[in-house]
Amino acid sequence: MEDKITLSVIKADVGGFVGHSAMHEELLDEAKARLGDAQKEEILVDFHVTACGDDLELIMTHHKGVDNNNIHQLTWEIFESCTEIARQLKLYGAGQDLLSDAFSGNVKGMGPGVAEMELKEREAEPVIIFMADKTSAGAWNLPLYKMFADPFNTAGLIIAPSLHAGFHFEVHDVKEQKRIFFNAPDELYDLLVFIGAMGRYMIKAVYSKNGNIAAVTSTQRLALIAGKYVGKDDPVGIVRCQGDFPAVGEVLEPFTMPHIVEGFMRGSHYGPLMPVSVNQATPSRFDGPPRVIALGFQLANGRLIGPRDMFDDPGFDESRRMCNILADQMRRHGPFEPHRLPMEEMEYTTLPQVMKKLQDRWEKLPE
Ligand code: 13P
Ligand code: 13P
Ligand code: MG
Ligand code: MG
Repeated sequence: MEDKITLSVIKADVGGFVGHSAMHEELLDEAKARLGDAQKEEILVDFHVTACGDDLELIMTHHKGVDNNNIHQLTWEIFESCTEIARQLKLYGAGQDLLSDAFSGNVKGMGPGVAEMELKEREAEPVIIFMADKTSAGAWNLPLYKMFADPFNTAGLIIAPSLHAGFHFEVHDVKEQKRIFFNAPDELYDLLVFIGAMGRYMIKAVYSKNGNIAAVTSTQRLALIAGKYVGKDDPVGIVRCQGDFPAVGEVLEPFTMPHIVEGFMRGSHYGPLMPVSVNQATPSRFDGPPRVIALGFQLANGRLIGPRDMFDDPGFDESRRMCNILADQMRRHGPFEPHRLPMEEMEYTTLPQVMKKLQDRWEKLPE
């Protein structure tokens, strides 16, 4: 439908520079050139390319709706040609997130992370796109809960008539491939039963009570798709702001509390999520601490007016400092929990291979 616009954010790690810490400029240039061609061919209305750590982030607007074959194929081909460049430069983990050789119409389930929403642009349409590196898809649960359900975070839930009714949450069980909807605030306690377990239950989307899409996230879990450890999910999310939705500042506020997420070194450790500018999204210390960036845009008939680098603000300095203090404290635990992930989560890392080697050395305890 022509009067609706689709905002698609599709991302993949196709090779790191240096190690897993950042993205090489040549990959960004290739992606920009390819998306520029797609814009000239009128497949896209507009686009923006960026990186969060070693993840290539393609932000696109178009009129084709979500899960569109053409758009997904375009991004898959870009990830493939960037992988080719990564191979030539011998970047680290070239093609890391491309888990299949054959494209099958949709990049979901093939490695890349996907967050897409179709919307009817309002008079003014501020959106914030969150992108994270060195963490897992469940990392958005806590901030989304705060944005859309916690009045201590979002003043509008109390004082703005347009937010006072609350929101609907769509939660996915990524292990059993099931979903459930919750009404907030009436079912907050039920909602929290699940979303507090971030490894399995993920907020996929949030809707206003009149059914308008408010937020959407990528919930792809690489290890579950690949059946082995191939790097972390490094998720993305889109949040609409103002009017019927939380204000820009209410959407950013949850990130002042550096919550502890899965990821960090070898995807196998807990660490604090640090809100940073795009320039600082280069996790090098112990491949972390995990990072999150936030790009703000105003949509104008599909044009992406922006970006504004929303965490490039001294208002987040203290959160970053707190992250470093927390990261120091976690690091001191070395290979001990709760820095290292619990055994259940370590199943999705490379540890099982080491344990296998030792399996015959275990003896029964004497009676
Ligand atoms: P809206 O009412 O447009 O959401 O704006 C409120 C505001 O100014 C908070 O920053
Ligand atoms: P990425 O998921 O960002 O590639 O990181 C993987 C890793 O093992 C970092 O130590
Ligand atoms: Mg990587
Ligand atoms: Mg990454």
